[in-house]
Amino acid sequence: MKKPTIIVSASILVASTLLLSSSLFADRPNKDTNPVLQPSDPALYVGAETCKACHLPEGASYDRGPHWQTETAKHKGPQWQGCEGCHGPGKAHVDSGGDASKIIRFTALSPKQSSERCLSCHEKNASHENFLRSPHLANGVGCTTCHSVHASTVRRNLLTAAPPGLCYGCHQSVEPDFSKPEHHRVNEGLMSCTDCHNPHGSSLPHNLRASASQGAVCSKCHVDTAGPFVFEHAPLKEQGCVACHSPHGSTNPHMLNRPQVNQLCLECHSSILAAAIAPGAPTFHNQGVKYQQCVLCHVATHGSNTDPTFFKR
Ligand code: HEC
Ligand code: HEC
Ligand code: HEC
Ligand code: HEC
Ligand code: HEC
Ligand code: HEC
Ligand code: HEC
Ligand code: HEC
Ligand code: HEC
Ligand code: HEC
Repeated sequence: MKKPTIIVSASILVASTLLLSSSLFADRPNKDTNPVLQPSDPALYVGAETCKACHLPEGASYDRGPHWQTETAKHKGPQWQGCEGCHGPGKAHVDSGGDASKIIRFTALSPKQSSERCLSCHEKNASHENFLRSPHLANGVGCTTCHSVHASTVRRNLLTAAPPGLCYGCHQSVEPDFSKPEHHRVNEGLMSCTDCHNPHGSSLPHNLRASASQGAVCSKCHVDTAGPFVFEHAPLKEQGCVACHSPHGSTNPHMLNRPQVNQLCLECHSSILAAAIAPGAPTFHNQGVKYQQCVLCHVATHGSNTDPTFFKR
């Protein structure tokens, strides 16, 4: 009497696992990679302790890392917990004695699919909300390119390597800037690429972070340049700090874009270009020595609360 029902439920199980494993390779959004849409039937799950019995190294790295904490969220259901919160329901895999095609393997997913799996829990973190439209994911750099759940040797954040080494690995072209005579001390460990950039994407160009007041990230640390000023210097508002500074590093004093200050200012304040960009320096500014050091008189280059020609701050 009982036998037929067992056969029926076993074939449903086989059918559903086939469905699950075959759909893993299609690059469709969410549907197959999001635990929300994953079966919630507790009978399909075995719990982390069962997995650990056969996968000792992964069990150990899981216990060392932060993800055991998912097991404390019992009310959410087994699809949000333990190994299976990431690898999907494991009963069929276990029953088959470890058939690798019956479990989610991240190495078989596209960067987008595997990232969506991580995001199913991590998108609630505001710093990750732009990841799906970030230049990193658009170029195939997913969560597991920078993070390793089981094999990280970096002390924090499960990283595959610590910045800036992690970043230089792909962004070799910016590396020399941080060895120039004037540079932000990233290599020295005093600040990080991630102070200015959000590797998870942002709503600004170049993955840049914003300051607390949604201004340029620079004013987070260089508070005195932030303004608002009664008399603003237009380029700070229009092009931002990079109108005059090279933010990674430069061979020029103060990381300026030009070796001489007058070259920098006259790029905009030349009477030839005047009509187009900015008022030309008055004609009495002959380029004799006296007028070359523009900032000796125009001391408040970043803006002033007292003087429209920036003589005082
Ligand atoms: C936070 C998500 C996450 C959790 C939780 C997790 N894993 Fe993984 N697992 C991964 C990812 C991602 C990979 C792919 C390799 C990598 O990036 O480290 C992986 C790889 C594996 C592999 C294959 C090893 C390889 O070299 O590819 C096994 C086996 C495994 N995990 C077992 C487990 C077990 C057992 C647990 C629970 C004790 C567990 N995982 C918990 C994400 C997770
Ligand atoms: C009865 C022992 C056993 C249990 C329990 C078990 N597995 Fe496995 N698992 C295996 C075997 C055997 C393989 C195949 C290894 C291979 O092909 O190299 C495997 C493969 C895997 C792989 C793919 C590894 C790869 O190299 O691609 C993952 C991921 C995985 N298991 C995760 C889990 C998770 C998560 C659980 C708990 C839900 C679990 N396993 C429970 C025995 C087990
Ligand atoms: C380009 C590399 C890179 C990618 C891709 C990446 N991360 Fe990160 N992630 C980092 C770095 C670097 C840190 C450390 C941030 C810091 O020092 O401020 C970090 C920190 C984190 C943290 C802890 C701190 C925080 O911001 O909450 C979490 C959680 C995290 N990442 C999850 C993810 C997830 C999920 C994905 C995919 C959606 C992802 N990361 C993709 C590099 C990356
Ligand atoms: C089932 C939910 C869930 C999934 C899926 C998940 N995480 Fe997590 N993750 C957590 C929880 C809970 C924590 C610990 C609390 C916290 O830091 O937010 C955490 C912490 C982290 C941290 C912070 C590590 C630290 O040292 O502070 C990183 C990095 C991270 N996860 C990366 C990933 C990556 C990469 C994936 C996909 C392979 C992933 N997570 C999938 C729930 C999840
Ligand atoms: C002081 C803040 C700051 C720090 C620290 C910083 N960046 Fe940048 N980065 C910027 C700004 C601002 C831009 C945009 C430049 C522009 O608009 O011309 C930028 C642009 C970039 C670009 C795109 C343009 C290009 O030059 O290729 C990359 C890639 C980049 N940064 C990577 C990094 C890496 C990697 C690190 C760490 C080694 C880092 N940045 C550290 C502020 C910073
Ligand atoms: C696995 C390679 C890889 C790693 C690791 C990596 N990136 Fe990227 N990054 C890319 C690719 C590819 C792009 C998109 C193409 C481009 O703009 O260079 C990109 C884009 C960027 C951009 C935007 C560039 C622009 O012109 O708008 C910034 C900024 C950036 N990455 C910073 C970082 C930082 C900071 C880290 C370290 C935490 C990092 N990246 C780690 C590959 C990587
Ligand atoms: C119109 C060109 C210009 C723009 C735009 C600009 N700066 Fe400057 N900045 C200068 C010049 C010129 C100096 C050198 C001043 C001197 O020698 O007295 C300087 C000096 C600095 C210094 C050195 C210390 C100081 O305050 O004199 C810092 C820090 C600085 N700028 C940060 C910023 C930040 C942050 C921004 C964007 C909010 C910015 N700058 C935008 C031209 C500019
Ligand atoms: C996390 C804090 C932080 C952020 C964000 C930051 N800086 Fe800096 N900046 C510093 C520190 C600290 C120094 C001191 C120089 C050093 O490290 O040797 C500095 C130095 C400078 C200098 C040279 C000052 C001098 O006296 O010559 C300039 C110019 C500058 N920063 C511009 C910028 C710009 C432009 C941005 C945004 C793209 C920016 N900074 C973002 C911390 C920051
Ligand atoms: C990227 C272009 C640019 C650079 C570089 C630049 N400026 Fe300006 N500057 C402007 C613009 C635009 C205005 C606003 C003109 C207006 O409001 O009509 C302005 C306004 C001024 C004014 C006020 C003029 C007035 O009549 O209100 C002074 C003084 C000035 N700049 C000095 C300097 C000095 C000194 C430097 C070099 C440290 C410099 N500027 C670099 C674009 C620039
Ligand atoms: C010795 C002091 C001194 C130096 C050095 C100096 N200026 Fe001036 N600048 C002045 C004075 C004085 C005025 C006139 C202010 C007024 O009309 O109220 C002026 C006015 C200006 C104006 C405003 C023009 C307008 O039509 O509103 C600009 C732009 C300007 N200077 C740019 C520069 C640049 C660029 C340099 C460097 C090449 C420079 N200044 C160097 C003293 C100086």
